[in-house]
Amino acid sequence: MSNYPYQIRSREQYDAAYKRSVEDPEGFWAEVADSFQWHRRWDKVLEWNFTEPKVRWFGGAKLNITENCLDRHLAERGDQPAIIWEPNNPEEDFRVLSYKELHFKVCQFANVLKNNGVKKGDRVCIYMPMVPELAIAVLACARLGIIHSVVFGGFSAQSIADRIQDAQCNLVITSDGGFRGNKEIPLKSVIDDALVQCPSVKKVIVLTRTRVAVSMIKGRDVWWEDEVRKVETQGNPVCPAETMDAEDMLFILYTSGSTGKPKGVVHTCGGYMVFTAYSFVNVFQYQPGDVYFCTADIGWITGHSYIVYGPLAAGATTLMFEGIPTWPDAGRFWDIVDKFKVNILYTAPTAIRSLMGFGLDFVKNKDLGSLKVLGTVGEPINEEAWHWYDENIGKGRCPIVDTWWQTETAGILISNMAGITPGKPAHATLPLPGVQPILVDEKGEELQGNSISGNLCIKFPWPSIIRTTYGDHERCRQTYFATYPNLYFTGDGALRDEVGNYRITGRVDDVLNVSGHRIGTAEVENAINMHTGVVESAVVGYPHEIKGQGIYAYVVFSGGSHDNDLASKDIVQTVARIIGPIAKPDKIQFVKGLPKTRSGKIMRRILRKIAEGELQNLGDTSTLLDPAVVDEIRNGRL
Ligand code: PRX
Repeated sequence: MSNYPYQIRSREQYDAAYKRSVEDPEGFWAEVADSFQWHRRWDKVLEWNFTEPKVRWFGGAKLNITENCLDRHLAERGDQPAIIWEPNNPEEDFRVLSYKELHFKVCQFANVLKNNGVKKGDRVCIYMPMVPELAIAVLACARLGIIHSVVFGGFSAQSIADRIQDAQCNLVITSDGGFRGNKEIPLKSVIDDALVQCPSVKKVIVLTRTRVAVSMIKGRDVWWEDEVRKVETQGNPVCPAETMDAEDMLFILYTSGSTGKPKGVVHTCGGYMVFTAYSFVNVFQYQPGDVYFCTADIGWITGHSYIVYGPLAAGATTLMFEGIPTWPDAGRFWDIVDKFKVNILYTAPTAIRSLMGFGLDFVKNKDLGSLKVLGTVGEPINEEAWHWYDENIGKGRCPIVDTWWQTETAGILISNMAGITPGKPAHATLPLPGVQPILVDEKGEELQGNSISGNLCIKFPWPSIIRTTYGDHERCRQTYFATYPNLYFTGDGALRDEVGNYRITGRVDDVLNVSGHRIGTAEVENAINMHTGVVESAVVGYPHEIKGQGIYAYVVFSGGSHDNDLASKDIVQTVARIIGPIAKPDKIQFVKGLPKTRSGKIMRRILRKIAEGELQNLGDTSTLLDPAVVDEIRNGRL
């Protein structure tokens, strides 16, 4: 017997659950949702149409997600570790927060937020390193019904400012700085630069982490620790949770698309909670007492759903790591697994490929015997990396779950379930119950049968589907629901093998996936074009051994002769300043012109092929305005 009534324990149960979820989705999800704590039950499990689009799960229900993640566990497992935190520097003490302690600290910090004038419905931006206080800040917002917008610590001041302005945040939570490997990352000073453009922000709460000198602006900036002390002297350790509608916003998370600025993906309380907990428990086959380690950053959706909300809603022990896999050496993950006897490890193909490159010396003497389940996420995993992970980390005895999903899906949609449904190298395999994927051709016609490839769409809502893009519902419709009528379009291509397993082949739009991070080509081009010397640019992806995809930029530079090296460095700096270091181009090729059609459209197909090193069959170039530019570009390939 499992401790979770909704945990699937055999292939037969998976088949039955899947069938039921398609035949009677409302009955199916109502049963799962009954395992959670609601102040009021729903009136209607699901109302939806994909034309507006409008999706409402558990309409009329009332809840607070933090009561499900914290309060609900206190009686039974109050002393069990909720969060184990491993610092960047292995010499520093690790921390363990029991459910009781985490509950206490979340309530305490929620009271800090109240004292600083924020309330239900307000937006708060969080820009912090991977310390427990980041999870505490997130949960404290959720407790008060404040909508959090976490921005990854690697984004630049400009990117933060764009996100703060878009959501009109009125408070920012940050820290003086953060540690990553042998580097100290400034955070507060980056926020200071961002806030020059953000009049909506009235308060900044600053946690002490690195003790780097920062400037504190009177009336605006306060120290986390001082505010906590104030709450202590007020003597009220509890903070009642706000009662939220199931469809009230829980958070905004910005993500890149194929056009323009990043969009604020909106998720709501009820469906998100149900689906993240359900998928967590089933995909990883979590059992009470297991130590679960997800190596993502809370700045991304993986961290939201599978470090914080999903595991805590399931009463799990979730391990948070501040540092990077290669510091002090490339054995760090394995040291952590050994130190805390980790049972479930969830990481990204890019990390696996990078560690592969360091050789087996860093794995050899580590005790990985506690591991039961391995997982990957974020990008297609190549077979070589899959086998390396399987043989050297899982020792051939741990199922690997290859989990496919997106910021917009908020939870895992396609994946094998560890030990329950079979894995297959480089295949995400089967949809979770409640998820109805289909493949379509260019015209949107459904491709029936197996051994087929097409564009991946989902034809029925699951509880944590994107509800809107913040402040711009039309953009949500355009991006996800307009390409093919009545379908959610993922932007990914996929193939379905002879027995129905899905293999995700990658994006079919102008979105790059660099080290598992989504970056829009248009966004990088806009940043490059900010450089005064640049006339125009085109950015494409190319296969990169470790990052999966690298960024290749073709740049038309003004003013004739220039020092290519210097100009490249300047452009890279510009991109880092506008977006952040994660979007730095790997290669910059200066060209006299870009291949364009007579109507002025850049022919990216040709640029992509050249970047990939495919110099011969470039396809039809006769429609180009000036076919000669292709030869120049081909000859100058880096
Ligand atoms: O292209 C797919 C790829 O990552 C994209 C989603 O990126 P993001 O919203 O940043 O979320 C990443 C973490 C969930 C998808 O459109 N992707 C994600 N997981 C996989 C994957 N590609 C192949 N296999 C996966 N398991």
